[in-house]
Amino acid sequence: MMDITQILTNPRYVLALVVIAFTIWYMRRKRYSKPLPPGPTPWPLIGNLPLLAQKNVSVHKVAKQLQGKYGNVVKLQAGPATLIFLMGNETIQKATHEMDNKFKYRPNNLFGFNYIFKNKGILFTNGDVNSALRKYALGTMREFGVGKRSLEERIQEEARMLCQVLESKNGQPNYFMNNFKMAASNIIAGIVYGSRFEYDDPIFKRLLSNIDIVFKNLTPILPENFVPLLRFLPGSKLMKTEKHFKDVERYTRTQIEEHRATFDPENVRDFVDMFLKKEGSGDPAMTEDNLHRVIVELYIAGTDTTANTIVWGILLLITYPDIQKKLRAEILKVVGTERYIRLEDKHNMPYLRAFMNEVQRFSAVAPQTPPHTVLEDTEFEGYTIPKNSNVFLILFTLLHDADVWGDPDNFRPERFLNETGEYVELNKDSFIPFSAGGRSCIGKHLARMEFLLFFGTLVQKFEFKAPPGADLPSLERIQSGVTCQTKPYDICAVPFSQ
Ligand code: HEM
Repeated sequence: MMDITQILTNPRYVLALVVIAFTIWYMRRKRYSKPLPPGPTPWPLIGNLPLLAQKNVSVHKVAKQLQGKYGNVVKLQAGPATLIFLMGNETIQKATHEMDNKFKYRPNNLFGFNYIFKNKGILFTNGDVNSALRKYALGTMREFGVGKRSLEERIQEEARMLCQVLESKNGQPNYFMNNFKMAASNIIAGIVYGSRFEYDDPIFKRLLSNIDIVFKNLTPILPENFVPLLRFLPGSKLMKTEKHFKDVERYTRTQIEEHRATFDPENVRDFVDMFLKKEGSGDPAMTEDNLHRVIVELYIAGTDTTANTIVWGILLLITYPDIQKKLRAEILKVVGTERYIRLEDKHNMPYLRAFMNEVQRFSAVAPQTPPHTVLEDTEFEGYTIPKNSNVFLILFTLLHDADVWGDPDNFRPERFLNETGEYVELNKDSFIPFSAGGRSCIGKHLARMEFLLFFGTLVQKFEFKAPPGADLPSLERIQSGVTCQTKPYDICAVPFSQ
């Protein structure tokens, strides 16, 4: 009897083995009615991970290069997982229009996400649980003031607190990013717990640092998503994420317990109370585990995205002082200096609205959606999207599509104004920084309220400048985790009262 070494050293046997393996692969290979999307050739086992898992990789930049080479629908392989990138205006619009019957679901084959979210909450659930929790979160945010006075007052108060911090620096250069994160996070705290943190509260600082780490690490290209065993290696990002996630969980559970102890169904104070009231209603989605996950998701999804957009806006104002002057002139004309900006002012502030849109378009803070999936092999744009693929809408390629915007790389708020200076909803279907369809962002209206009141107040009170002798901000998009940020840049906020 031959042993394995003899077989492997005999070229005839090796050739026979290769032919048999190829024949088995060819016979079992899945045949699709339409071809698979094109894409770079994958390596055995690891697929295209070397392309995606490079240090400091910006997925949207890789995607843009692939779009130039292969077109608007591109297939990659990350270990065993198939990734599909959908790009450009027409393709993404088609996907969002067909969202509800094709792409509405999130995949359940990314190990890291399942490990952390455990099939609870909004972001990584599907079907009835996702629908019920989305409905609950949207309804409750409306109830507690998105679009209403109570939340407007909370955001105004937070804007005032931010102004105090900026004023205290007396025009000296400062990064301020953490202060913007605190402000955004306090708005979520107001909705969820009915309270806010002081900026120097150590519990708040720890909560923010935990949220930051979870948000940065938990990306679709986390290696443990594709090779779960990597979590046992020292330095595993998934294990680190779990540790910080659990710390947030402990805090959230304490808050829920405190609410439970003082709960009065006749006096519903906030998001948590509303949940406690519905808990016994028989709806299987209304469990404490789901409540906890939804709260963490609101913090995670609503802090970094909002703060980054504010920083982008300020750096763009520093880069384009004429735009800053025009914006301030409009604020002074409509609001003056004596009172704070209100939501209803927006109807008289076309330039501020155009500015907000252009900041969101230009920065593409969420350059791609989290993964969607298809539940069966699905035909799309002449290709087959295989069942259970991870489908990403690369929103950056839509917000910067030259066929739609003409000069996408120029920052030009005027593109959202008509000849007489009125605000126009230009390219409404292409301006979707919050994505569109059945899985679009549930924080969209809240975020837009925050931008209006924060930008309005900050530009009313401060002139934003580069530090003396410093270069202007670079405006290069750095994708850290899932958001596009600017390079860290110290801002001089000079109070107008000086
Ligand atoms: C600049 C601010 C924001 C941007 C650009 C943004 C963008 C997005 C995008 C692109 C998605 C993915 C949609 C998709 O998969 O098709 C999303 C989902 C989500 N966002 Fe936001 N977001 C922002 C702020 C917020 C805020 C303030 C909150 C919370 C109050 C929030 C909560 C969520 C949640 C829970 C989801 C998951 C929805 C689901 O899977 O059903 N976001 N967001």
